[in-house]
Amino acid sequence: MNMKKIAVLMMGFAMAAGTMAYAEDGKALYTKCQGCHGANGAADSSMAKAMKVPAATDPAVKALSAAQMITITTDGKGKMPAYKEKMTAPEIKAVVDYYRTFVK
Ligand code: HEC
Repeated sequence: MNMKKIAVLMMGFAMAAGTMAYAEDGKALYTKCQGCHGANGAADSSMAKAMKVPAATDPAVKALSAAQMITITTDGKGKMPAYKEKMTAPEIKAVVDYYRTFVK
């Protein structure tokens, strides 16, 4: 195999890995949220109830834009922890995108 072919192949792998990481990130990262928000955003665990986590279907949650949710996840709000030290901005966006699939 010549060098050019190898380079093209490697680029293909890097690109495939990049997209895959993005698509799966949100779901994988959400494992850090589900203790409080529930596996599907229902916030129905005893811990969620004790902390008064609103369900993703709550009208007040539905009213939030993606940008507002990103701000809440980044900086925290009330008992909701801030994630700016724990996740990168693209990770926060991915996890909020995933959480928003429960907002109906
Ligand atoms: C320790 C429990 C806990 C964890 C872990 C947690 N949250 Fe929250 N979250 C809360 C609470 C409590 C609120 C309500 C805050 C308020 O309005 O006072 C909240 C609110 C939110 C909101 C505002 C809309 C809504 O549903 O009320 C978003 C968006 C959100 N959380 C996203 C996340 C994401 C994304 C993660 C994981 C990266 C996460 N949370 C992890 C407790 C938690």
